[in-house]
Amino acid sequence: MFGMRPIGTVRSPYTETAQIPHGPGAKHDAEGVLEILPEFERGLQDIEGFSHLFVIWVFDRIDGFDLLATPPTDSRPHGVFATRSPRRPNPIGLTVVQLLGREGPRLRVRGVDMLDGTPILDLKPYLSSVPAEKLTRGWLAEAEARKS
Ligand SMILES: C[S@@+](CC[C@H](N)C(=O)[O-])C[C@H]1O[C@@H](n2cnc3c(N)ncnc32)[C@H](O)[C@@H]1O
Repeated sequence: MFGMRPIGTVRSPYTETAQIPHGPGAKHDAEGVLEILPEFERGLQDIEGFSHLFVIWVFDRIDGFDLLATPPTDSRPHGVFATRSPRRPNPIGLTVVQLLGREGPRLRVRGVDMLDGTPILDLKPYLSSVPAEKLTRGWLAEAEARKS
């Protein structure tokens, strides 16, 4: 077992899951703030230079998990680890956000898909070394093809 503590909290316009865009073509361009606790503020030094960040967070309003999930983008079930379902054995969320600005311990970002008050576990600069032509999208590409 591992012990973890939040480094901060997401401030988001979303207070209910129904407000968060989901399903085919959903766009995540809502703005929010990542409020980092004062004791961790020094850890933000030099973060301003990165345009995008990985936010690692906790699905704190989910109980339990399912090993098969039927995402809103498909009518067929898939293994939970082949989806972004919130109902997972370890309720960890991962979101890429655009960093718009920093005021001390507050990071203004675009692209939140978390509920207001979501605990943040970690931040990392978004860096991708995988060329777009090497990425495959598995069942998602098949589901999109069936719908078009
Ligand atoms: C499909 S998950 C994807 C989240 C993240 N981008 C990921 O891939 O891990 C997004 C959904 O999680 C749910 N959600 C967001 N914040 C949550 C929270 N704090 N606790 C429980 N569920 C949450 C909402 O229903 C939202 O539509």
